[in-house]
Amino acid sequence: MDIIEFIKHEVENKCLGENNVFGYGIWTHHIVSVVKNAKTLAEKIGADIEIVEIASLLHDYASIKDYSKHDEHHIYGAKEAEVILKKLNYPKDKIEKVKDCIISHRGSIQVHKKSKEAVCVANADAIAHIENVTSLLYFAYCKKGLGIDEGAEWVSNKIKKSWDKLSNEGKILIRDKYNSAQEMLNFASKI
Ligand SMILES: [Fe+2]
Ligand SMILES: [Fe+2]
Repeated sequence: MDIIEFIKHEVENKCLGENNVFGYGIWTHHIVSVVKNAKTLAEKIGADIEIVEIASLLHDYASIKDYSKHDEHHIYGAKEAEVILKKLNYPKDKIEKVKDCIISHRGSIQVHKKSKEAVCVANADAIAHIENVTSLLYFAYCKKGLGIDEGAEWVSNKIKKSWDKLSNEGKILIRDKYNSAQEMLNFASKI
C-alpha cells in the first residue's frame, strides 16, 4: 500500500472511531472535499500535489482523534503528522512541508502562508464549508436547534466568513456554488 492510501485508511478509520465527536460525516462531507479541492488548486497554481493531498487528509486529524485538542488542532495535527510520516520513512524535508500546511490551515488565508501548498490546503478547507452547505444546515437545525430563518442566517454568515478567507484562485473555483447557496439561504427574505 502506498503512503497516501495508508493515510487515507488511517484518517477514515479515525473518522469511524468512537472518539470522533463530529461523526463519520467529517470524512464524507469535509475531508474528502478538502482533498479534492486542494488538489484542483494545486494543479492550478503549480503546488506539489502529493504534499497537498497528505496535508489535506491530516489537517483535522488531531481534532477527530481527540476533541479536547480542538483549539490547538493545527499544532497537534502537525505533530501527529510527523509521527505518522516518520514511521513511513517519508523524507524529512517533505514532512516539514506537510507540517507547515497543517499548522497554517486555520485563520486568515491571504497572509502568513509560507508555501503554495499551504495556500491550497487553507483555501480548500474554507471551500469545503461552502461546498457542504447541507452539513452546516444539519448542524444549525439539528445540533444547535435553530429555527428556519435563524438557521439559514447562521449558515449564510458562516459561508460568508469562509468566502472572505479565500484567495482569488479559491474564489474562482467556488464562486457559482457560493452565489447559489447564498441565493437559496436568503430566498425567504427577498420575496
Ligand atoms: Fe481545522
Ligand atoms: Fe478542516
